[in-house]
Amino acid sequence: MKNILTAGLPAMAIVALAFAGCFGARGADDQAVPYPEGYRHWTYLHSSLIPPKLPGFWKRPCEKPCTAGIFNFYANEKAMTGLRAGVYPDGAVIAEELLEILGSASGGGKEGERRLVGVMVKDSQRYASTGGWGFGSYDGASREDQLDSAARNACFSCHIPRKDHGFVFTEYSER
Ligand code: HEC
Repeated sequence: MKNILTAGLPAMAIVALAFAGCFGARGADDQAVPYPEGYRHWTYLHSSLIPPKLPGFWKRPCEKPCTAGIFNFYANEKAMTGLRAGVYPDGAVIAEELLEILGSASGGGKEGERRLVGVMVKDSQRYASTGGWGFGSYDGASREDQLDSAARNACFSCHIPRKDHGFVFTEYSER
């Protein structure tokens, strides 16, 4: 995270850029990543708020009543092992969802439509060329991976600075 932050962009902006960088990517192939079924039952990690103008909304703008976006992050049990140990076993999955925030006149807001789900799946053999992680992205309610190999490489390239943390940005804190 520090490497990225020193580059002058807040982490949440970078996530949004990440998806913008994958614009046009389409067509699942043999490296396609499975949809993270039931991710909302996993361990909740953290959230990041993104402004409405950022490229997180590149496919469809965030317009009233949408006033912002929120990324929520979840980890399955094997990913929790990895987050604690810094080394991720095969089968670890981390999912992120981007929801609209529907703003109210008082300045509050509540969650709206889901815009996308992004995922990292650890399989050190299958995804050997991208650090052992398969990267996938699903629009809205879709369960079809939208990424092709160029898009997956673009995902991975931005996670490379986190090599010493298993290519994962999130740092889990017990509370
Ligand atoms: C421009 C840099 C960048 C690109 C490109 C990028 N990411 Fe990330 N990714 C991040 C950052 C920074 C975080 C941490 C965000 C936070 O904590 O709010 C992150 C977090 C994640 C996480 C949660 C696990 C973790 O590392 O904390 C997943 C899953 C993820 N990204 C998937 C993807 C997918 C899928 C793509 C390609 C579609 C992608 N990323 C492309 C920077 C990037």
